[in-house]
Amino acid sequence: MQFGQSPTGVAGCQPVPPDPTVTEHSCYLRSVGICVDPLWFLLTGYWWGKRRMFYETQTNAHGLAHDPFKALVSPRPIGWIGSLAADGTPNLAPYSFFNAISDSPKMVMFASDGRKDSVTNIEASMEFTASLVSRALAEKMNASSVSAPPHVDEFEFAGLTARAGELVAAPYVGEAFAALECKVVDICRPKTLSGGEAEYILVIGQVVGIHIDPAIISGGRIDMAKAAPVARLGYRDYADAAQTFEMTRPSWNEDV
Ligand SMILES: Cc1cc2nc3c(=O)[nH]c(=O)nc-3n(C[C@H](O)[C@H](O)[C@H](O)COP(=O)(O)O)c2cc1C
Repeated sequence: MQFGQSPTGVAGCQPVPPDPTVTEHSCYLRSVGICVDPLWFLLTGYWWGKRRMFYETQTNAHGLAHDPFKALVSPRPIGWIGSLAADGTPNLAPYSFFNAISDSPKMVMFASDGRKDSVTNIEASMEFTASLVSRALAEKMNASSVSAPPHVDEFEFAGLTARAGELVAAPYVGEAFAALECKVVDICRPKTLSGGEAEYILVIGQVVGIHIDPAIISGGRIDMAKAAPVARLGYRDYADAAQTFEMTRPSWNEDV
C-alpha cells in the first residue's frame, strides 16, 4: 500500500487514489503538530501571564479588583491636618496626599478630594497645622477621619488634646511626636491634560514653626524607631518605620 492510500480493502469499497499532497513528511509534521499545539498554547499562556502589565489611565482598564494607583505610590506620610473653623471649632483630619515639597523654605502640601471642612477652614484662616502620626496614635488618627459635620471637634471625638499653635491659631495634636505650624502660600486645583481642573484641591503651606517631642531625639537626631511614623500603603494597609536601614549617597569622582 502506498502512503496516503486508503488502507481499507473492505469489499464494496474502492481503494482511494493516493493524495499527491500527502507525503510521508507532511504526515509526520501533522502528528508532531498534535503534540506541539498544546505546548505552544501553554508557552504563550505562560508568556502572557509573565508579561508586564500596562494600562492607560484614561480608560483605567487595569483589570484588577481594586484600582492599584494609590497602592503603587506608597508608602505615603500622613499629615494630620489641624484647622480652626470660623466659629472657633477645632478640626482635625488625616491626609495621605501629603508631603514636604521644599526644605528651603520649608513647605508642605496636602490635597483634598473636593472642598472638605479642612479646606473650608484653611481658605478662611490661611493657616493650618500638620501633626505627624506615630504607631501608638494610628487608631486615633483613623477615628479622626470620620466624616463628621463641621460643628464636630474631631480632637474631642478621637480623644486627643487640641493645643493652639505658637504662631498660628490652628490647633495641633498635643500627643503627636511632632507638629508643623503652617501659613498658606497657595491653594489651587491642579490643571489636567484636558485643560480642565482636577477635583482635588491642593493646599501648600510654608512651615513657620515646628514642635518636637524630646523623647524621640537621640544623639542629636530624630530616632525613627522611637517616633515610629505611620505611613499609608494601599487599600486599608499601613506601615510604621520599625525597620530602618542606612545608606550614604555616592559622590561623583571625575578621575574614575
Ligand atoms: C489615612 C487616611 C488618609 C487620608 N487621606 C486623604 C487625602 O489625602 N485626601 C482626602 O481628601 N481625604 C483623605 N482621607 C479622608 C479624610 O480624612 C476624611 O474625608 C475626613 O473626614 C476629612 O475631614 P474634614 O472634612 O474635616 O477635612 C484620608 C483618610 C485616612 C484615614
